[in-house]
Amino acid sequence: QDDVFKKIVSHAKEYGFVFQSSEIYDGLAAVYDYGQNGVELKNNIKRYWWDAMTLLHENIVGIDSAIFMHPTIWKASGHVDAFNDPLIDNRDSKKRYRADVLIEEEIAKIDDKIEKEVAKAAKRFGESFDETLYRQTNPRVAEHIKEREELHERFAKAMNDNDLEALRQIIVDRGIVCPVSGTKNWTEVRQFNLMFRTEMGSTADGAMTVYLRPETAQGIFVNYLNVQKTGRMRLPFGIAQIGKAFRNEIVARQFIFRMREFEQMEMQFFVRPGEELKWFEYWKQWRLQWHKALGMGDEKYRYHDHDKLAHYANAATDIEFQMPFGFKEVEGIHSRTNFDLSQHEKFSGKNIKYFDPELNENYTPYVIETSIGVDRMFLSVLCSSYEEQMLDGGDKRVVLHLPAPLAPVKCAVLPLVKKDGLPDKAREIVNDLKFDFATRYDEKDSIGKRYRRQDAIGTPYCITVDHQTLEDNTVTLRERDSMEQTRVSVDDLHKLIHDRVSL
Ligand code: GAP
Repeated sequence: QDDVFKKIVSHAKEYGFVFQSSEIYDGLAAVYDYGQNGVELKNNIKRYWWDAMTLLHENIVGIDSAIFMHPTIWKASGHVDAFNDPLIDNRDSKKRYRADVLIEEEIAKIDDKIEKEVAKAAKRFGESFDETLYRQTNPRVAEHIKEREELHERFAKAMNDNDLEALRQIIVDRGIVCPVSGTKNWTEVRQFNLMFRTEMGSTADGAMTVYLRPETAQGIFVNYLNVQKTGRMRLPFGIAQIGKAFRNEIVARQFIFRMREFEQMEMQFFVRPGEELKWFEYWKQWRLQWHKALGMGDEKYRYHDHDKLAHYANAATDIEFQMPFGFKEVEGIHSRTNFDLSQHEKFSGKNIKYFDPELNENYTPYVIETSIGVDRMFLSVLCSSYEEQMLDGGDKRVVLHLPAPLAPVKCAVLPLVKKDGLPDKAREIVNDLKFDFATRYDEKDSIGKRYRRQDAIGTPYCITVDHQTLEDNTVTLRERDSMEQTRVSVDDLHKLIHDRVSL
């Protein structure tokens, strides 16, 4: 699986989807650039989200707030004081780790042991195997489960109490070693704030420390009343935003899964107090449907409901996607109560309550948030689309089965040969299609090679112009996944492509 993931990463580079940032200077850790195909795929993901939010819901509008905001906003939101990760160093390797991640990996190791025991027994017992009973009664498994529970409980308590020494003690007691040096020479644990800081204004005027926003949500909260009043919005209503966010992640791994500069698509839905759990349920269902509608396989998604909630939340769930390295969070849906708005009211000293004309009452709305990372979604689409296929005759092809509406290129028009007027006819077809679909023209190399190039970037259709085209105005339409070729009239192309690639 590691292998597959490596192949996907190098494919992403080779075909112009994702490049390491500053590559010719040996790169910048956890920062990436999107290439000519990547930017199109990313834009299509954003369009798919934006349209679903703002066009399908009459009561949701968009905004685009600035990355820089007044620094007190981050005080009010709790990010200055609490947006921290617990950090630990190994004295020998001088490598830095997240203490919580080291312990989570330790828990995962016990899970692995349990699963291995169960798998072994399943093999041994064959058809008569009762997994539930085995988990409850086998002494070895029971011992692992007990060990896991104790560790988990201790860990949860340390995190809850913000007890850094207790975290360190778990690492020491478990004998966790540094993956690089293999030694147990750990420093104390300390808090590390994830926000990037910079200065605004020249130092002579007295510069002000400002932050690069670690989430786009606060830009929505501080504008909610502007939008509500100018848009004459009534509760319940939502505000959607797509934009960059920045976090100085300590453990930046797995390609574009955890980045230091990334993009979020967030929507805050403002509701009457008391109605938040109903709306939380609505958005939980609706967001999963949105994911599944792309057709990447319903079994690749699952919810992860949080049992440990942030102090301001009264319900939270993640939508996880099956990546090559396991089920991972792609989106979070949170019932954030009136925490953020109340904090902004307190810190700004302004009245930002909503006047409800039906109740004839002023109050602070409750908020349901849906928050998804564009880059994580991009990664999930890329990973689930990638396939290496062995073809009849011993040929191999790499194909991206991208959902057609997200594909960077929708169709490629290919003259079979570079003469006899075929290129002219092909150009004519390109000119007919290019205003409605991302269309490419390609005449270089053999037709087989050109098909492979389009397969590799996930182009749903190849249109081949041959000598017959000049006689009867038909072309072959080759479908990416089945590789089936059908003869169709040039006049039908527009409709055929539109039916498949539109959302
Ligand atoms: N406003 C709520 C919020 O920001 P979050 O769970 O911290 O919640 C939401 O982030 C989503 O943003 C995540 O589900 C993930 O998709 C994405 N995300 C968060 N940190 C990221 C990172 N370092 N790199 C890429 N995506 C990230």
